[in-house]
Amino acid sequence: MSIWSPSSWREKPILQQPTYPNQEALDKVLAELKNYPPLVFAGEACSLKSQLANVANGEAFLLQGGDCAESFSEFHADNIRDSFKAMMQMAVVMTYAGGLPVVKVGRMAGQFAKPRSSDTETFDGLTLASYRGDIINGSEFTKVARVPDPERMIKAYNQSSSTLNLLRAFATGGLADLHKVHSWTLDFAHQGTVSKKYEALAQEIGKSLQFMEACGVTSKTYRTLRETDFYTSHEALLLPYEEAFTRQDSITGDWYDTSAHMLWIGDRTRQLDGAHVEYLRGVKNPIGLKAGPSMDPQDLIKLAKVLNPENEAGRLNVIVRMGAGKVGDGLPALIRAVQAEGLKVVWSCDPMHGNTIKSSNNYKTRPVDSILTEMKEFFQIHKAEGTHAGGVHLEMTGKNVTECIGGSFTVTEESLSSRYHTHCDPRLNADQSLELAFLIADSLKEAR
Ligand code: PEP
Ligand code: CO
Repeated sequence: MSIWSPSSWREKPILQQPTYPNQEALDKVLAELKNYPPLVFAGEACSLKSQLANVANGEAFLLQGGDCAESFSEFHADNIRDSFKAMMQMAVVMTYAGGLPVVKVGRMAGQFAKPRSSDTETFDGLTLASYRGDIINGSEFTKVARVPDPERMIKAYNQSSSTLNLLRAFATGGLADLHKVHSWTLDFAHQGTVSKKYEALAQEIGKSLQFMEACGVTSKTYRTLRETDFYTSHEALLLPYEEAFTRQDSITGDWYDTSAHMLWIGDRTRQLDGAHVEYLRGVKNPIGLKAGPSMDPQDLIKLAKVLNPENEAGRLNVIVRMGAGKVGDGLPALIRAVQAEGLKVVWSCDPMHGNTIKSSNNYKTRPVDSILTEMKEFFQIHKAEGTHAGGVHLEMTGKNVTECIGGSFTVTEESLSSRYHTHCDPRLNADQSLELAFLIADSLKEAR
């Protein structure tokens, strides 16, 4: 295998990249980014890797969630807080009702660049370059907005940095204290069945905490009661940006992508000889690899060997996104191939990206029923194969949006327009996410 460097990906074929009109302006921005402080520290990426090793070994569950695409216009402390709370609610449901520790990873603080199925979009007879995420160009349907602008990388870095700062404050500054389990309920939460179920669970946790307090176990004495570990992740798509944050750890000499704790390769850019695989094989962070219906079992083996040559547990997370009704066609062969080679991977389910449809009124949406079905199928198949259903990868928000249809507090096709805010794919709202968390908790309990 050829020698890796932070820029060796430049020698490989690359997909899904913008063409910047001004090379000089791009080089200037990249030179500036190379001097910016890293967003995460190598030691943190290692801690996440060791927690993911527990997931690979069946001793923990991974919850990875957040926006499909973060945006400059939706950047607000309330949005960050509400996504954090929604993930804390889900995690506590899975931990308490499902009986496994939950590793929390946000699709946050850097999830800006988007792969697109087409390079152009046509609307009312006008064809323009596709929107590729706020780190690259603007979503407005104008010629000017769609021109890639390197300065956007600086804005995305600054936004990621303050998002991460707030997430760290929430994780260690009191909001994540288990005694706050009631306060994670979001203001708009409907008094539907799911909210009531959560309230009942929170009451039980409150009672357990009282008992433990009487035994001397308090937030003051136990860090794990008062704080949590909350990690960040995004798709490593825009490689010039990732390269600028590739730094060598002074202690080990290893390279890390310091723009997030965990990075993943999308389903459209996972070619074995392509630039994205080349880049990620050389950094030591935990990494994800999306696997859609076209993933061939032998290709997965080849990719796993290139991306995780030492077969380290916790390094590689295979994020399966087949679509409801199709998991049974694709997943068993992938699992069997990985088992036959003795490869250690985390198996996650992304029940979002295989279930996108157009509503009759032309919204890109996802039926909650299909999302729940794919999740159930994922658990059933792992049970049948004797492997651990390790995690879930979601597009979700703590906001009361109407982007996915169905759920216990039903969003209908007609109501999609009322609060459809996503900059890319439809997200589960807080209620719908919580409903899924209860389903996962039941499946985890059953699997045990
Ligand atoms: C995504 O996670 O937003 C995404 C584009 O997924 P995939 O690569 O699986 O299509
Ligand atoms: Co998406």
